[in-house]
Amino acid sequence: MTDTIRVAVLGAAGRMGAQTCAAVEAADGLELVARIDAGDTVDASTLAGADVAVDFTVPAATEANVHAALDAGAHVVVGTTGWDDASRGRVSEHLERANDGRPAGEGLGVLIAPNFGLSAVLAMTFAAKAARYFESAEVVELHHPDKIDAPSGTARHTAAAIARARTEAGLGAMPDATETGHEARGADVDGVRVHAVRLRGLVAHEEILLGNAGEQLVIRQDSFDRASFMPGVLLAVREVGSRPGLTVGLENVLDLG
Ligand SMILES: NC(=O)c1ccc[n+]([C@@H]2O[C@H](COP(=O)([O-])OP(=O)(O)OC[C@H]3O[C@@H](n4cnc5c(N)ncnc54)[C@H](O)[C@@H]3O)[C@@H](O)[C@H]2O)c1
Repeated sequence: MTDTIRVAVLGAAGRMGAQTCAAVEAADGLELVARIDAGDTVDASTLAGADVAVDFTVPAATEANVHAALDAGAHVVVGTTGWDDASRGRVSEHLERANDGRPAGEGLGVLIAPNFGLSAVLAMTFAAKAARYFESAEVVELHHPDKIDAPSGTARHTAAAIARARTEAGLGAMPDATETGHEARGADVDGVRVHAVRLRGLVAHEEILLGNAGEQLVIRQDSFDRASFMPGVLLAVREVGSRPGLTVGLENVLDLG
């Protein structure tokens, strides 16, 4: 990459896309070269020489956008939710093909971050660290009612991290005597229950409840404004070029010990 990082924003007319365009334009060392939205093709011509494409579109479009941006030779930062193991696997394979033969450290990178908010990333990290010490853990995510997917990508990511930590610590299934009304127990993400609240007035919030006999730890984070995501987005844009292959989670580019 040249010293100035050229950035294209996909979903530029949306809430997060518009905020990203403004943040890129205001940032030192970054140049906004393309605003792409629904109906536009994603290719080398529309990406206009971008080093990094940032995708804040919709779950139905994001994977195709990433493949198209990689075909055009751009690194990609993804904030759109809706990714699963299969779609991430296809992007990993694409990256292996694209980077085959390139000098080490110079390949294309894709960074998918379910959440760019520092408080959210820290909450996820702390929850995963704490999980091994508790018999029970459940996740509650709370969002504005215009959100189309549930549970949120952040909550899924948090639950999966808790589940991994429990498995590594040799913990078994959590106690749960429920016999009726299973639908009221929330989604099951790798054995961790996730509850989604949709309420007018909220933005994006998450609570992780960890319980033992006689004690409880609650980790809570609140994102009140989309501006809170921008430092994380800009960090990802600056870092993705030096991380060939697929990186999932902003925690991997933060120095969290
Ligand atoms: N990772 C994070 O930190 C984070 C934070 C907030 C939101 N999100 C996610 O980002 C996504 C966008 O959120 P939003 O609130 O900006 O939504 P939005 O509905 O305001 O914006 C989405 C935009 O994408 C455009 N679009 C649709 N299909 C497209 C395509 N094929 N190519 C290009 N553009 C296309 C739409 O026209 C719209 O302008 C959602 O998945 C949301 O959950 C992630």
